[in-house]
Amino acid sequence: MSIRTVSTHPFPDQKPGTSGLRKKVPVFQQPSYLENFVQAIFDSVNAPQGATLVLGGDGRYYNREAIQIILKMAAANGFGKVLVGQGGILSTPAASCVIRKHKAFGGIILSASHNPGGPKEDFGIKFNSSNGGPATETVTEAIFAKSKAITSYRILDTADVVLDRLGETALGSMKVQVIDAVSDYAELMESLFDFAAIRALLQGGFKIKFDAMHAVNGPYAKEIIEKRLGAAPGSVMNAVPLEDFGGGHPDPNLTYAHDLVEIMYGADAPDFGAASDGDGDRNMILGKRFFVTPSDSLALLAANATLVRGYAKGLAGVARSMPTSAAVDRVAKALNIPCFETPTGWKFFGNLMDADKVTLCGEESFGTGSDHVREKDGLWAVLFWLNIVAARKQSVEAIVREHWAKYGRNFYSRYDYEGLPTEAANGVMLHLRDSFATLTGKQFGKYTVGSCDDFSYTDPVDGSVSKGQGVRVLFSDGSRIIFRLSGTGTEGATLRVYLEAYEADVARHHLDAQEALRELIRLALDISELQTRTGRDQPTVIT
Ligand code: G1P
Ligand code: ZN
Repeated sequence: MSIRTVSTHPFPDQKPGTSGLRKKVPVFQQPSYLENFVQAIFDSVNAPQGATLVLGGDGRYYNREAIQIILKMAAANGFGKVLVGQGGILSTPAASCVIRKHKAFGGIILSASHNPGGPKEDFGIKFNSSNGGPATETVTEAIFAKSKAITSYRILDTADVVLDRLGETALGSMKVQVIDAVSDYAELMESLFDFAAIRALLQGGFKIKFDAMHAVNGPYAKEIIEKRLGAAPGSVMNAVPLEDFGGGHPDPNLTYAHDLVEIMYGADAPDFGAASDGDGDRNMILGKRFFVTPSDSLALLAANATLVRGYAKGLAGVARSMPTSAAVDRVAKALNIPCFETPTGWKFFGNLMDADKVTLCGEESFGTGSDHVREKDGLWAVLFWLNIVAARKQSVEAIVREHWAKYGRNFYSRYDYEGLPTEAANGVMLHLRDSFATLTGKQFGKYTVGSCDDFSYTDPVDGSVSKGQGVRVLFSDGSRIIFRLSGTGTEGATLRVYLEAYEADVARHHLDAQEALRELIRLALDISELQTRTGRDQPTVIT
């Protein structure tokens, strides 16, 4: 068993995006591609000799091969121990939990989140720091810089590690400990939520359906929802993780979680429905024939937090990503706690939570979380909701409607234009930036443009500045249109248009969001020239 130094050439395209490096599997399968990036991580994060690393992924195609490569490279780069999930599996929030609980130096998570998996589909890798959260931009930029200058990587010549059996093995002078992927996480959930109350709810006839979408949360949901909380067998559907997610798109929204949506809108629908994504960090919440927008969900969790054991002492503050609706801002105001607006992506919440400035945070993209870990957490959100329902003894719909009546409703929708030619998408953004001066003060029907800008964020903890985070067209009544290019796609460009209109009048709360937002949508298309510049009449997905 010897350490080999292998010479290599840099790949120019290893810039981490919103959440790590994501590429098609064949790109990762090129000789040295994964190795280069892993070496760039190790060279950037300066782990002390003998440090502990956490390793796991969402089980998608290429997960096992990548785990073996990373283990051998960790052994050759001076790590003392790697905690790896059984079978190479760890959901993203569970990885964050394990890093924190075992005080590891950091972790490597293999996932392309909600993107499809399979031999021709997506794969991804990211580094999380000792707080359990995604590496900050300073670190991801350092990794990118190293990747562009790399000349060699180090790897231990040795046989593969058995990943399916729990226990410890040696890899050179490094130990590999295969851990149960679920138990640390399940224990954390039990400490936050009133499992007895939820169990009583579920055994009192309240029916639920959780769609794991053939992704990583299957085993977690089976253990927690069916076994520990006693939901009827079969309450968790699509529970076996598959390398290709059953050919589906493991993204919990009304379009892709169609199996669940059909059940929740069908005859004899259960009382509560939920789904999570490929790596288990996203969530969608549904009542009987009722959809809760992620932005509303965040606001609701904040408003009801003190009903839940883990949050009974109240919230230090809340945070939302810039495109997320301002529903939570209203709750923060009522609770008299700070509310932070960050750029898109979970990495910006970590500093705020480490500094105890926020307890809950979320994004419109079906991500909600708290300071219990440093990732968004799909199953956690589901349990939080169940705990609230158990405490309030009302339906999901009744809870949401009462919330709107008290705070007003932020109608919200996101239009995604996927796979656009990069130049056309960039053209739309450039055109918008050029229009700031002419748009400001202009009136369009009932909307007047108060201001326009390209969102920039100064981190209140470390002072770092992130510019160019999305074009905002802000109207005088609080309505907003945001334009942003995705940082997670692997093909062409994805342009996201976020629409938000505030409505205080209860008599209008029953409206369908698309109906309430019609005028804003027309306006968004008009000012961006999106249709003529990209040749697209229709968005790929509306959420
Ligand atoms: C998308 C979401 C963003 C989320 C990220 C990772 O990023 O919009 O909120 O944090 O996935 O799950 P985007 O493709 O927009 O850059
Ligand atoms: Zn995800």
